[in-house]
Amino acid sequence: MSHRITLEGGDGFDVSAGEDTLLRGALRAGVGFPYDCSVGGCGSCRFDLVSGEMESLWDGAPGLSERDRRRGKRLACQSRPLSDCTIKVRTGEEYRPPVPPVPMTAVLVARRPVTASMAEFILKTAEPAHFIAGQYAVFRPPGTDGTRAYSMSNLPNGEGEWRFVIRRVPGGRGSNAMFDALAIGDTLDIDGPYGHAHFRAEAPRDVVCIAGGSGIGPVVSVARAAVAASPGRRLFVFEGARTREDLCFPALMGTAQDGVTVYTPVLSAEADGSGWDGVRGFVHEEVERAVGPRAEESEFYFAGPPPMTEALQKLLVVKWTVPIARIHFDRFF
Ligand code: FES
Repeated sequence: MSHRITLEGGDGFDVSAGEDTLLRGALRAGVGFPYDCSVGGCGSCRFDLVSGEMESLWDGAPGLSERDRRRGKRLACQSRPLSDCTIKVRTGEEYRPPVPPVPMTAVLVARRPVTASMAEFILKTAEPAHFIAGQYAVFRPPGTDGTRAYSMSNLPNGEGEWRFVIRRVPGGRGSNAMFDALAIGDTLDIDGPYGHAHFRAEAPRDVVCIAGGSGIGPVVSVARAAVAASPGRRLFVFEGARTREDLCFPALMGTAQDGVTVYTPVLSAEADGSGWDGVRGFVHEEVERAVGPRAEESEFYFAGPPPMTEALQKLLVVKWTVPIARIHFDRFF
């Protein structure tokens, strides 16, 4: 059984009655439904319900402002159709999923510590791991009631291997559950791939990758893809961390690091007198200093905490006027 979703003024698509959200149903049907985070945080998937019945999965989702709520807006990633519906939303070719997401069951086969608070989780599915470097999957950590989005840190492969770099966030229920409640051999329902910040192999420009915190996962994946796609391409990687112990790009990248033109670690809280003679400060400041004249020839990929991504957007869009089509990141909040 399925529900027919009609787009006002356009076509429609069918969502299986067992589907968990309107957004996933739309993307599985190949519809270019706008979204970024797919977990209720960003507001990109707002739509209007014109007719029909739709269940809200998270009334307090931060992706909707009070004004949105007063105007009756809903989030497609937090709505489930209960009947045939008509909705109003502006779909677009740019949102059409390059790889339609599928739900799968994965087994945790290994957990490899990367730093004191971060680990690489290695999961296996029976299906091939179809995604483009830089994309993410969503899953519900054991014992929690909401889905989380984590980016893959490896490359797509036929063996069904999915790697995720996860940071244990103090007080964070999802990340702590991944470390404490998921044992090797346990299964997890994962769904993906999602996300627009994927590698563009066809773009003939230098690649600039910028990571902060656990944003290192998708950045490692994109860097690996850039090396594999064209070994001679110039690739600049910036990693922002608090201290030297928090850096993880070299450990994750392994031998593929040989294909990186310049790797620049930037530390924001390294103790004075620690012997660190590298760059100190915030990573976006170093990007501004080091990339400056090369901005016009570059394609930018970044992932990290909101203050970092906001500072980079200001730098790239407002100050350097880099075309939006060359800036790749997913908004999570
Ligand atoms: Fe729905 Fe982000 S995609 S709130």
